[in-house]
Amino acid sequence: MTTAENYKKGIQITEIDTPSIIVDLNIAEENIKKMQNFANDNSVSMRPHSKTNKSPYWAKKQIEAGAIGICCAKLGEAEMMAAGGVKEILIPNQIVTPEKIKRLVEVNKKSKVMIAVENYDNVSKLSEEFEKNSMKLGVIIEVNVGMDRCGVELDEIVDFAKNINDKSGLDFEGIMGYEGHTVNIGNFEDRVNETTKAMNKLIKAKDILEENNISVNIVSASGTGTYNITSKIPGITELQCGSYIFMDGNYLKVFDDFQPALSLLCTVVSRRDNRIVIDCGLKSVSMDQGLPEVVYPRGIKLVSLSEEHCKCELEDDVDIQVGDKVFVRPMHSDTTINLHDNYFVHRDGIFDEKVEIVGRGKFK
Ligand SMILES: Cc1ncc(COP(=O)(O)O)c(C=O)c1O
Repeated sequence: MTTAENYKKGIQITEIDTPSIIVDLNIAEENIKKMQNFANDNSVSMRPHSKTNKSPYWAKKQIEAGAIGICCAKLGEAEMMAAGGVKEILIPNQIVTPEKIKRLVEVNKKSKVMIAVENYDNVSKLSEEFEKNSMKLGVIIEVNVGMDRCGVELDEIVDFAKNINDKSGLDFEGIMGYEGHTVNIGNFEDRVNETTKAMNKLIKAKDILEENNISVNIVSASGTGTYNITSKIPGITELQCGSYIFMDGNYLKVFDDFQPALSLLCTVVSRRDNRIVIDCGLKSVSMDQGLPEVVYPRGIKLVSLSEEHCKCELEDDVDIQVGDKVFVRPMHSDTTINLHDNYFVHRDGIFDEKVEIVGRGKFK
C-alpha cells in the first residue's frame, strides 16, 4: 500500500490517484435495496452473486439488506468470503479436484457451503471426503437450461438425484439453472420468451423430481438481466443476480432499472488538438465486452486502449487539459474489478472509504 493511498474521509473523490475504481455508495446501496425489495415483493430470496464485487464489504451490505447468503464463482472467493465473516455461501459451480475438495471441507468448517454438482464421479469424491471429516456438504444439481455450459439434462436427473441421496456425505438441497444465454437479449419480449423457456425447463426438473418423491427445497436461478422475469416463474425460490450492484455498461444498453455506481477515475496525460490520452489501459480496465466509454466530461469518445494508454477524441469543444480528471465506465465491471486492489467509495463525490478487493485474482 502506498502512502499516497491513505486518503482522509471528506476529500473530493477527484483528489485520489488514478486510474482508480470509484463507487458511488448512495447508488450502490440504492441498487441493493431495490433488488431486495423486488425479491421480497415477489416472495423469492436473494442470494446475490459476489463474482462481481469480490469483497465481504459489499456482501455484508447485501446480507444486511435481507439476502439469505451469497454466491461465489470460485472456491478461492468462497475462502475469502468465509474468512471475511460471510456465513452462507453457495458455489454455483463445480469443485472437482482432490485438493480443492479438501479446501472445501476447510471452508465448510467456517461457513455453511453448498455447491452445484452434475457428475457422478464428482459426487462420490465429494461425499467420501466430507464423510471422512464427519461432515455433510449441501449440494444442488445444476440443470442445463439452454446455455449449454454445465448441467444435467431432464432424462438424467432422477437417477442422478437418487445417487446423491444414497451418499452419506451429502445433503441434497435442490436444483439450479443459470440462464446466461438470455440475460442480455435487448428486446424485452424476446428476453421474456427465451427466459421463460429456460425456466420452464428448470421447473420441469423440479416437477420430475417431486413426482419421484424427491423433495426440492431450493430452485435457484437468475442474472441481473432476467431478475424481473425469473422471479415471476412459480417454483423459483431464489435469485443469484450479481451485476445489479454496480450495473455494467453493457447491461445499461439493455435496461436501466438499476443505476451505474462504478466508474474508473482517470487523468488526462496528453492533449494535441482534438486528441487526448488518459491514463487507463488494458491493465486497469477490461474490454472483454467492448470498449469502455467516457461518461464525464461529455463530448469525449474513447477510441482505443493499449496497455497503459487510452486514446480519446474530443467530439465537442470540450475544455479539458493535461491533469484534468475523466470518468470512464467499463462495459463489464467484474473483469475490471479483478484488475484492482481497492475500491474508493464516495457519497456524492466526497471520499468515504478505501475498500480492499480481497477476492482479486482468487480464481482458483
Ligand atoms: C451461475 C451464475 N449465476 C448468476 C450470475 C449473475 O449474473 P449477473 O451478473 O448477470 O447478475 C452469473 C453470472 O455470470 C452466473 O454465472
